[in-house]
Amino acid sequence: MNNRDKILIIDDELSPRESMRMVLRDRYNVSTASGGYEGLEFMERNAVDLVVLDIKMPGMDGITALKEIKKKYPDTEVILLTAFASLETAKSAVRFGALDYLTKPFDKDDVLTVVEKGLDKKRNSDRLKVEREKLLFRNRDLEAEVNKARENILMGYEGTIQALIKTIDAKDHYTFDHSEHVSRMSSTIADVLGLSKEAREKIEHAAAIHDIGKIGIDERILKKQGPLTDEEFSDMKQHPEIGTSIVQSVPLLEDAIPVILHHHERYDGNGYPAGLKGAAIPLNARIVIVADAVDAMMRARPYRGSLPMEKVLSELRDNAGTQFDPAIVDIILKDKVSLK
Ligand SMILES: [Fe+2]
Repeated sequence: MNNRDKILIIDDELSPRESMRMVLRDRYNVSTASGGYEGLEFMERNAVDLVVLDIKMPGMDGITALKEIKKKYPDTEVILLTAFASLETAKSAVRFGALDYLTKPFDKDDVLTVVEKGLDKKRNSDRLKVEREKLLFRNRDLEAEVNKARENILMGYEGTIQALIKTIDAKDHYTFDHSEHVSRMSSTIADVLGLSKEAREKIEHAAAIHDIGKIGIDERILKKQGPLTDEEFSDMKQHPEIGTSIVQSVPLLEDAIPVILHHHERYDGNGYPAGLKGAAIPLNARIVIVADAVDAMMRARPYRGSLPMEKVLSELRDNAGTQFDPAIVDIILKDKVSLK
């Protein structure tokens, strides 16, 4: 016996309605209604697991009531009740979502079998619903965990970049300040080129640490006032490869490697370390090469003052196609990038 199962009998005739109630009342929680409208009204106020529904009724007939019930309460099972004459109607009603039908006059055992079958189906679908909700909750928890993990990774990424920037600063404040400006200018060039926000962030980070390899260069060379000897210059030329080996062990920073390694290539192929030429130089590196040169020229060094703006622009123009990617120089010459 399961008193929690709620059954509603809808039949306009008192006698079959009452005898059906007698059959079911010992096992289930049974209510009755004398018509379609009344039944639907009852269902608005009470949860019903299964409806036993007479087909032939005045007012709202059983088929219309069936369609309404299935539309509003798709999980509620419906068993149709019919006289033999309308058996065909009962069969076709199954198409509208009725689970089964019983013929009048009904047999007590048949009623119990069919009703129990219907309730079993309802209990199963209720159980599945609960499981599905549990899974949805679990899914939401997992999503939150994934988002948190993603945030932690990003924080780790930002933290690593900041740590590297501070490391550069500790060694050489000039490089630190310079890297920050190169980063900003590279981002603006990337913006004019129409690169995505994500791509812009990558180039900003890469530009900020493009000279990280300088922490492996002797301070006397780094801070030397005046031109470097051949030997010193060949030491200095190691910094792209030193920088690459520093960030290589950090998978999050691998996007910065093309910039760190190739920011001293020249467009004509005469740069270092790989001697890459033209479009073979990664785009981010071609951008940083121009930004790097502009900032270096505009900055006063211990051995010379800063170059005036006209001189910076004429240097860019003169070296477009040899040292620099002409398309990127063009962006600066057309004043799409503020040099301040
Ligand atoms: Fe450099």
